[in-house]
Amino acid sequence: MIKKSIFLLAALWSVYSFAQTSVVDIPNISAAVAANNVDVPKNLPAVVVERGPYLQTGTPTSVIVKWRTDIATESVVNYGTLLGAMSKNVTSADLTTEHEVTLSGLTPNTKYYFNIGNRTEVLSESVTGDMYVITAPTPGTDQFVRAWIIGDPGTGNTFQRWVRDAYYNYVDTTATNPGKTDMMLFLGDNAYNTGKDSEYQNAFFDVYDDMFKKSVAWSCLGNHDGDSADSDTQSGPYYDIFTFPTAGEAGGTPSGTEAYYSFDYANIHFIILDSHHTSRAVGGPMYNWALTDIQNTAQDWIVTLFHHPAYSKGSHDSDVDHRPVEMRENFTPMLEANGVDLVLSGHSHSYERSYFLNGHQGLSNTFSLEEITNGGNTVGANGKGDGKEDGDGAYQKASTEPEGAVYITTGSAGQISGGDLNHQAMYISMNKLGSCVMEIDDDGNGGQNMVIKFIRETGEIDDYFTIHKTGVTFTDDTNEPKAEVGAESKKVLYVAGHDLLTITMDRNERLKKVKIYNNIGKLVKKSRKKTIDVSKMPKGMYAIEITTKNGTYIESVTIE
Ligand SMILES: [Fe+2]
Repeated sequence: MIKKSIFLLAALWSVYSFAQTSVVDIPNISAAVAANNVDVPKNLPAVVVERGPYLQTGTPTSVIVKWRTDIATESVVNYGTLLGAMSKNVTSADLTTEHEVTLSGLTPNTKYYFNIGNRTEVLSESVTGDMYVITAPTPGTDQFVRAWIIGDPGTGNTFQRWVRDAYYNYVDTTATNPGKTDMMLFLGDNAYNTGKDSEYQNAFFDVYDDMFKKSVAWSCLGNHDGDSADSDTQSGPYYDIFTFPTAGEAGGTPSGTEAYYSFDYANIHFIILDSHHTSRAVGGPMYNWALTDIQNTAQDWIVTLFHHPAYSKGSHDSDVDHRPVEMRENFTPMLEANGVDLVLSGHSHSYERSYFLNGHQGLSNTFSLEEITNGGNTVGANGKGDGKEDGDGAYQKASTEPEGAVYITTGSAGQISGGDLNHQAMYISMNKLGSCVMEIDDDGNGGQNMVIKFIRETGEIDDYFTIHKTGVTFTDDTNEPKAEVGAESKKVLYVAGHDLLTITMDRNERLKKVKIYNNIGKLVKKSRKKTIDVSKMPKGMYAIEITTKNGTYIESVTIE
């Protein structure tokens, strides 16, 4: 007799975890030998993970896992959609301290747990399930997306940790999709003073390690990062630490360089520019690539990152400094003509957020709050307002209209440095510590809202606004990653029968395969049928992993 017992799932995974795993960072050679059937020399030195794991270049079907060990060793990533049964692995026999492993052939929008190690032991893992990658949705997918935006963080000091903790608390306690951070967007100057490897260890890896093991990190180059890196040759600590797409691996037009690149996530296109080393000239290689890239994206939203702000009167003055002037004069007309929605920069250690603007390439004092239809610089009836749904109203943009973007200079994730803070393009300017979060979600009426919040180091949200976009292309109603331990599928049901396990599902679903794992996580049966004979299976609890054309679902049953 088969009895559905979803309520036992949590207990089941606890059993899996303790049966399968060793304590984090403590080598367990005997367990590993049993698992991998490898001869181990006696007196093997313990290998310690000194950095990571961290996730790079996430795509719908792949992700790069990187970490550093103190001793050169092989690279192994075990992974799977079940915490207690990471049935797949990628192994590199090369001995190295700088590990970089690509997981490929993954299912889009799916949660994969992973651990890292070498051929004899697991070196870092999480028994609580907070080490995972959720693959990117298929491009064009309309779903909730959250990005954490961190500008100029790399002081390594207490301020940086306050800002970090304020975001961690926000995301863990927020009402909508708590705990979900789809990506980290770093705006450069990630490690002071010159972006050296040791500075990155202290101000980057040692600060954000909890988030790095479950959220893909992206970045643009800051001037301090650039002090120890060469963008022409893509060498130096910044380029060693990060692995960004150069060949369009994550969507967009191949750039051929990690200095500037693009990627897609859900229905958002991200363009990352290098405002420090690379020529900012119209007609230069970066300009020509960005023009081709932005004109060839069909995504609903376009977000651009570069370090030097087009508009700032903080610790740097965009009327004076040549890099901000060139980014404003050369790049913003092209970006705006092709529909950019949000431009994120740092460099000034403050928070400055613009109106909903278009076509302002001059000095601060030439900015006009008049609408562009009247020769000014703001867009729409709400463009000169606060952008708040409970205030002057959200900024409004139709997907067919390119005009209208918000520029944010948010470089206070590690320190504040003052300035006049009176740029006329800015709705608000503050000398406050903090970071930003971007959240995009359905409006329930064929459009979407992009909401940005500035989260102070105190946890207070001192600014927020909404860009409402109509006419968003609808391609998917998926709102959650498919494989969540403990998640109860609404689409897949079990019907108890006489020694038969029967799977029923929505008419929109099509079964691809079924895997049954026993209570120590061992795969005991595979099938492609909806009715499975389990009469010969021993009594006990089992986990059922069901893969359909739409994703992977996990349920448990007790066979008695
Ligand atoms: Fe900077």
